[in-house]
Amino acid sequence: MTAVTISRVARTFGAVRAVAGVSIAIEAGELFTLLGPSGCGKTTLLRMVAGFCDLDEGSIHFADRRIDTLPPHRRNTGMVFQNYAIFPNLTVHGNVAYGLSARGVAADDMRGRVERALALVHLPGYGERWPHQLSGGQLQRVALARSLVIEPDVLLLDEPLSNLDAQLRVDMRREIRALQQRLGITAIYVTHDQEEALAISDRIAVMRAGRLEQVGAPAAIYRAPATPFVAEFLGATNLLTGRVAGREDGHLLVDALGRRFRLPAVDAAAGTDVTFSLRPEALQPVTVAVAGAATVAGEIAAAEHLGALLHLEVRLGDGPPLRVAMLDDGAVAPAVGRPVTLAYDPSRITVFPP
Ligand SMILES: Nc1ncnc2c1ncn2[C@@H]1O[C@H](COP(=O)(O)OP(=O)(O)OP(=O)(O)O)[C@@H](O)[C@H]1O
Ligand SMILES: [Mg+2]
Repeated sequence: MTAVTISRVARTFGAVRAVAGVSIAIEAGELFTLLGPSGCGKTTLLRMVAGFCDLDEGSIHFADRRIDTLPPHRRNTGMVFQNYAIFPNLTVHGNVAYGLSARGVAADDMRGRVERALALVHLPGYGERWPHQLSGGQLQRVALARSLVIEPDVLLLDEPLSNLDAQLRVDMRREIRALQQRLGITAIYVTHDQEEALAISDRIAVMRAGRLEQVGAPAAIYRAPATPFVAEFLGATNLLTGRVAGREDGHLLVDALGRRFRLPAVDAAAGTDVTFSLRPEALQPVTVAVAGAATVAGEIAAAEHLGALLHLEVRLGDGPPLRVAMLDDGAVAPAVGRPVTLAYDPSRITVFPP
């Protein structure tokens, strides 16, 4: 198990500041995810750890050893790519053994190591197959085996599942997580799929335009996003801006969408604008008043059944409708045009002070 310390790392391509001064301390054995929109610098940062991209500034250490000055093959990282990067002219065995031959491992030692790596990814006995005889999920397992067979100190995965269909993606992310935990290997995982990031990570760094916007455990970031960008990028939300009307019972009273909301008290004077994030599942239709809950009244503008979940759009006084997500237990008849009262717990709202 190896800790990874990324210190003030930066890289510019022409006019593009791809990575703009990033510091991250990744703990030994941690699965750490870089999450962010296309072009925010995830791959560049991962390539700098692997040694495929030079740093303009900063340093990277594996435990106490500085590695950013070493060539890639001396860093002992395993890398898995989005497009598998499997050699079509080599068998499965040849593909997995590739990194070992490059490291000068003896042939008889190699066979056992390749077989063990294939067993790890649930492909025992597949060594003599050719890549064209494998499914997408199996190819990705071969890529994983190839990166693990060298017993890397750090496993780097760049959108490893994005070529797979939805169900396989869910299965494979569980397998990768289970394997990473069983081997106790430190892993850096790149994705722009927020659900994937929430599901598999010990911690997530949300990146934006070459910088870290927030770092933390999945649930912590989801519950307390540091910025409006994070609130919108990690999970769906209603991002609202309203005017502070005053205070009452330890809450901030804010007018938005033609209604009055009760928010957690933050430092904001009456008459100023605040932005706040109200998650769809924090809003629940009620038929009777709930003691202590704040409410807003509106009208159902749209309804969508998604199996276990019911999504509503509820129009309030003015502006865009609020998004509401609830378990579809049949308690609410989601008829468009019907009036509805939504209850929420003010403590579940995140306020971004001005
Ligand atoms: N070799 C390069 N030459 C020029 N520009 C580059 C190079 N590599 C990356 N960039 C630019 O740096 C920025 C960050 O790119 P990067 O590939 O790291 O983004 P990303 O977060 O991985 O995006 P995606 O989710 O689309 O894979 C982009 O603006 C990209 O165009
Ligand atoms: Mg990328």
